[in-house]
Amino acid sequence: MDYKVYIVERISLEGVSKEEIAQNLCVPPDSALGDFALPCFKFSKTLRRSPVSIAEEIASAFEKDAVISSVTPVNGYVNFKVDRKGLVRETLGRIAKEGDRYGSSDLGKGRTICIDYSSVNIAKPFHIGHLSTTALGGALYRIFNFLGYKAVGINHLGDYGTQFGKLISAYKHWGNKEEVEKGGIHAINDLYVRFNSEATEEMEREAREYFRLIESGDKEANDLFEWFKGLTLAYVGKIYDRLHIKFDSYAGERFYTDKMQPVVEELKEKGLLQESQGAMIVDLEPYGMAPCLILRSDGASLYATRDLAAAIYRKQTYDFEKCLYVVAYQQNLHFRQVFKVLELMGKDWAKDLVHVAYGMVSLEDGAMSTRQGKVVWLEDVLSRCVEKAAKVLEEKNPALENKAEVAEKVGVGAVIFGALYNNKIKDITFSYEKALNFDGETSVYVQYTCARAYSLLAKGGKAELPANYEPNTQEFDLVKALSEFPETVRAAAEKYEPSLVARFCVDTAQKFNKFYFDCKILQAESDEARAFRLCLTEATLTTLKNAFTLLGIGVPEKM
Ligand code: ARG
Repeated sequence: MDYKVYIVERISLEGVSKEEIAQNLCVPPDSALGDFALPCFKFSKTLRRSPVSIAEEIASAFEKDAVISSVTPVNGYVNFKVDRKGLVRETLGRIAKEGDRYGSSDLGKGRTICIDYSSVNIAKPFHIGHLSTTALGGALYRIFNFLGYKAVGINHLGDYGTQFGKLISAYKHWGNKEEVEKGGIHAINDLYVRFNSEATEEMEREAREYFRLIESGDKEANDLFEWFKGLTLAYVGKIYDRLHIKFDSYAGERFYTDKMQPVVEELKEKGLLQESQGAMIVDLEPYGMAPCLILRSDGASLYATRDLAAAIYRKQTYDFEKCLYVVAYQQNLHFRQVFKVLELMGKDWAKDLVHVAYGMVSLEDGAMSTRQGKVVWLEDVLSRCVEKAAKVLEEKNPALENKAEVAEKVGVGAVIFGALYNNKIKDITFSYEKALNFDGETSVYVQYTCARAYSLLAKGGKAELPANYEPNTQEFDLVKALSEFPETVRAAAEKYEPSLVARFCVDTAQKFNKFYFDCKILQAESDEARAFRLCLTEATLTTLKNAFTLLGIGVPEKM
């Protein structure tokens, strides 16, 4: 049962919507006051009455039942206490029954959500800037699927543009097959970087010609392009595996080559296209935005043109309820323009396009970020974090089996968690030391807590939940935290904010550890208490594992 929903349904307050009530209903930090509390200060403004009198009215009208044991108005708050035994029975029963599906729902049945994320660029570095889009998008993808939606993961590859002409030219002049095969993406990137610093006028001209050849279907140019693309995808594929990332579609910008002309026609027909200094634009001045560039003066399409075609294609193909673009906030204007143009084209679904913007990630360890003026490759950050994780684990537990495997889960997990723990729009500075701190608000802290639970369960054996156990405060606080998981997952989907799940994990792990240190589990005072605590330990482990799976982070059994 969802206690919040249960309570909200039973509150009626004239002039205030259920939604507002739901938004205000909270969990007070100290459960001695109540398990849930409703502050009435916000309603006081709308109703022009004192919060104290509103709280009193709500409390006296509320009908207590077997679920809610007390309702008390205190200084403008209404405090609700639930029947503790009932909540415990219900929550632990449900977790045991649902197992790795605990937290899931069929809320999204028959509803499709497209998620454009990671969207790497062919022949360019897969760098630290792609971390957030990949981690956030991957988490949202799993969260929506877990809630019964059909999530469509789309990697909108950056595989279109004059840079590929440049790359072919550079390869022809300086490259050779063996080196590129061997060096893969790094070799390709080096060629591209070299072109940008050394290319002559002549090579620039040649590059434009190669790009034209790719466009016109020339075999040699396309073979080279496909080769570079294949090498890039093989490379990023390995990183996606490490990060547990999947896509349903790799339809990138190039895919829309033949789908842009109809968009241009439609813009023309609808009187939206204007000429401006030889280029074709959609004027967005009335909306306070710079014009959206559709065709360059040489007739070439732009990033926005392809995004217009892509949005229309996705709507036709997937009939999405929402299409999310998990892209850095630097592209705010781009998406506002694209969404506005679609709206002006009369696409009523333009309102369902959402730019899920996030902040920048930089490394505390600045030395690495500008290594020879080069970008920081995500792979290097992962490797480095895994290396450091191995060291930390070695110090903590030299006898640990499968060290490499555990270090991979801990190190990669720390990088993912670093990108997911804060509200997504915040700029963050990643620090290896902080991310690998066993006592911090970190993934390794949560993983270590899970390993502790695993070990307790291995020692304690299987236990049956006692029917009529009266939980103490630590036990109850932990169960209550676990009971909030389904709601947390839903909120994370609704707000496109996986950090809610990440924070839930840290909060729950902290509550578990409080319970672990304050209550004897294996040497409990009674058989009943021992059985209860083992069941609670197992339920915590199930819930944390489910949460970490949603975030894309592994949980080692031993650490
Ligand atoms: N490839 C782009 C970049 O790295 C991101 C693409 C985002 N998706 C989109 N539909 N525009 O900047």
